[in-house]
Amino acid sequence: RKLRRFTDPLPVPPVAVPDRSAHRGADYYDVTMRQAPWRFHRDLDITMAWGYWAADPGDPARPLGMGCLGPTLVARRDRPVIVRYRNRLPTAHLLRGSVDPSLWRSVPGVPPDPPGGRRMTDLPDDVTVWNVVHLHGGRNPPQSDGDPQSWFTPHGLHGPMYGSLPGATANEAIYAYGNAQRAAMLWYHDHAMELTRLNNYAGLSGVYLVRDRLEDALGLPRGRFEVPLVIQDRTFREDGSLFYPTKGAGRHHPVWVPEFFGDTPVVNGKAYPFMAVEPRRYRFRVLNASNARFYHLWFARHGSQLPFWVIGSSGGLRSFPLRAHHILLAPSERADLVVDFGRLPMGAAVTLMNDAAVPYPGGGGGPAIPEIMRFHVSDPLTGRDDSTPPGALALPPVEPLRPGPETPVRPHVLTETLDQQGVPIHMLIDGRYFFEPVDDFVASGATEIWEYVNTTGDAHPMHVHLVQFLIHNRQRLQADEYARDHARWVAAGRPSGGGPDLARYLLGPPEPPEPDQQGWRDTFVAYPRMVNRIVARFDPAPPVPGVGGTATAFPAGYIHHCHILEHEDNDMMRPWRLVTTRP
Ligand code: C2O
Ligand code: CU
Repeated sequence: RKLRRFTDPLPVPPVAVPDRSAHRGADYYDVTMRQAPWRFHRDLDITMAWGYWAADPGDPARPLGMGCLGPTLVARRDRPVIVRYRNRLPTAHLLRGSVDPSLWRSVPGVPPDPPGGRRMTDLPDDVTVWNVVHLHGGRNPPQSDGDPQSWFTPHGLHGPMYGSLPGATANEAIYAYGNAQRAAMLWYHDHAMELTRLNNYAGLSGVYLVRDRLEDALGLPRGRFEVPLVIQDRTFREDGSLFYPTKGAGRHHPVWVPEFFGDTPVVNGKAYPFMAVEPRRYRFRVLNASNARFYHLWFARHGSQLPFWVIGSSGGLRSFPLRAHHILLAPSERADLVVDFGRLPMGAAVTLMNDAAVPYPGGGGGPAIPEIMRFHVSDPLTGRDDSTPPGALALPPVEPLRPGPETPVRPHVLTETLDQQGVPIHMLIDGRYFFEPVDDFVASGATEIWEYVNTTGDAHPMHVHLVQFLIHNRQRLQADEYARDHARWVAAGRPSGGGPDLARYLLGPPEPPEPDQQGWRDTFVAYPRMVNRIVARFDPAPPVPGVGGTATAFPAGYIHHCHILEHEDNDMMRPWRLVTTRP
């Protein structure tokens, strides 16, 4: 079905209104997950989607939300936010044909993966909905982090790591976010074990902005001139409903697909939208919330590139504004951009384009999405543009983390297992399934280099919970030889010594990150056949002031994983722990 382009206005998700009377010194939000009608494009019928809805304290009968995604939550640095997440979804999944039970329990006739099979819980077979919310990029205590196993179902069953502040009923979880972090665009999204790809695809994600005084003082475009752009790729059925595959390529997982690439761009919940703009500067907070697709974005004006300014990355503002013509965004990455429409004539059109030659570097094919949305310079100027010219922005310095020879290096190895037909069975970190015991105990407050040895042919956007980090460097390696020797070491039962000596496989010198990849981030691209290194300081999340104990004793558990959601669900995700003394 061919959709007319640039005919639907870009929706901007409503900003949730905090309740300041519920908790002293904190902003309280009551957020409900619901299934609701939504129209993705005017040429498509209304369909059902999933989204988050925030109670409006001024008008409790009318929650704020759209039929998909969620309202934007705006937080101030160091001011706590408390969210009660309620699960009011149906117990049958919107994409129930795409739920793959082989990912979490063995299916007759299919070899279990891992050998012996696994069972998350004693969920009845007809329950296909379980959810948990993670604040991506947030510096939060583990019990509010939304671990994949802390899910809860609409009718009140809990995962083995379920936690909540006191006061929640069975189908709810109450989380406290301290916001002890720089101004940045974070996002909240579903993170349920084995369902993350489907729950996000159905619509469960939203924007969360942290603001601070440094940012306030810069003179950036604000109000109507600061706009979130949440980019996703989707495929629609004839009836306007969301399509996600229901048949896998391999025998091991009859339903799961290794990556999903949609054929249609959706921004803030609308396919191919347009936005009417004034001839002035705009700040766009761009989020790639797609399951697997990377975007290489640029702004086209009469077919040529309109330069723009990159002022921030996933973790906050950069140390200097970068004039750019394009930017790469992997799944879950954000870019803070200033685009100046001020020199364009009234009536000018600017198209947001994507020229990623393949949906992701090194990866397999999928439909190209060259055009995303359009800006029409059609609104008359409503007042002088008094925002600071981007080139003159005095952005706060990024204090570099300077690793030295004494800085511990924590190796991680990315591998994939293929069946005899070459179809991926699963992707792993360190040759381990998610459910295997924790290997990584990080000393609280330590600065560490984490290196991701990517032996696969695909780029994997790796995300570490709790911390913001800097890209240290990347270095090529003899990936096949390393993968073979690492697999042998794993098969031999991991004799001590930590696996093959990486130094023997390295090729050429380490390369520093490209200018547009500098700055704080919580996700970075581990390029294929390279060692990809990051540096982070693993400070614990400070306790949230005014918030008492937690309902359950909780291990200091965090995770790291690939943010290609199909990879994350099968099984490119591992736990790690923050410890004061090594157990
Ligand atoms: Cu955006 Cu662990 O996720
Ligand atoms: Cu991956």
